[in-house]
Amino acid sequence: MITLGIESTCDETAFALMKGQEVLSHVIASSAELHQEFGGVFPELASRCHFENMLPLLKKVLVVDPKEIDLIAVADGPGLIGSLLMGLQTAKGLSIAWKKPLIGVNHVEAHLFASMMDLSKPWPLPALGLVISGGHTFLVQIDKEGEYHLIGTTVDDALGEAFDKVGSMIDLPYPAGPLVEKLAKTGNPTRYAFKAGTVKEKPLHFSFSGLKTSVLYTLQKEPEASFADVAASFQEAAFQDLVKKSKKALELFEANALFFGGGVSCNQALRKKFEQNFADFPLYFPDPALSLDNAIMIAALGAEKYQTFSKVDSLDLKAKPRYSFSEWMKVIE
Ligand code: KG4
Ligand code: ZN
Repeated sequence: MITLGIESTCDETAFALMKGQEVLSHVIASSAELHQEFGGVFPELASRCHFENMLPLLKKVLVVDPKEIDLIAVADGPGLIGSLLMGLQTAKGLSIAWKKPLIGVNHVEAHLFASMMDLSKPWPLPALGLVISGGHTFLVQIDKEGEYHLIGTTVDDALGEAFDKVGSMIDLPYPAGPLVEKLAKTGNPTRYAFKAGTVKEKPLHFSFSGLKTSVLYTLQKEPEASFADVAASFQEAAFQDLVKKSKKALELFEANALFFGGGVSCNQALRKKFEQNFADFPLYFPDPALSLDNAIMIAALGAEKYQTFSKVDSLDLKAKPRYSFSEWMKVIE
């Protein structure tokens, strides 16, 4: 079975052509550099870039005759509305022109699927999932395939967003996550005792805005502070918090494994920290290239839903900027 995957939820335009588990081709263009002067993604600019990139990339990804394609999978949310519409309209146009079935894929679920797709079934379920991206921070319990229960989320910033904001305080351009990681390698993680927040009566929820503010105050108080020490201490505090809450989740929920997804999960210091803290527990990280936004995870999850659950969508498929998570997650208070 050949699936065309389309991803355009934020500032990356990506296509992938998958034959079963095999990637036939994949292409990606990012407008990240253009957003640098704004310190974060400028939605209108992102949409325009998707518009410009969509057809040239589509031409490149098509290494087979469209007649051979069996399914078109598109990320239909969550994300920026203008960006989502670009991918969705492209997918619908192709579905009509090529007379191929269409399926909408939840981008966040696809981030988690990126660490599951190489495993043969049966998967080690029930399991926990930790999504740490620029837009989301979720801790989920995965009961059965496709059944996610939200058990923790951020009450303010997503972790990747906190990396980007702290990065901009220490003069690193957007997206700062990978640069914070690089700088942190040369710094002292115990130089500043930063701490991520806790949420009253919600032990599995996250809060990173106080941590971000402590970094800001430290820089204001100590203009000569070493940026490397600040980066290392910030990263240490953030990852310690993820470890603490994941351990807590494992006390509360039965789980045979922990799956990771999202841009921050390619951070090597994070991977090391979890490996040290969960020595005998199965941890599954996505291939670093699949941690970040990509269309391979969209095609793979679309194909999985189509084959396992016979799911297809109609041309009425809507963009879901805020995906109502009750569609796939039940909140456990
Ligand atoms: O998953 P992703 O590509 O996009 C969203 O769905 O949001 O994640 C992008 C986020 C950005 O905030 C970026 O700074 C962060 O992931 N990121 C990292 C690293 N690589 C990307 N954060 C920390 N360490 C990294 N190595
Ligand atoms: Zn993403």
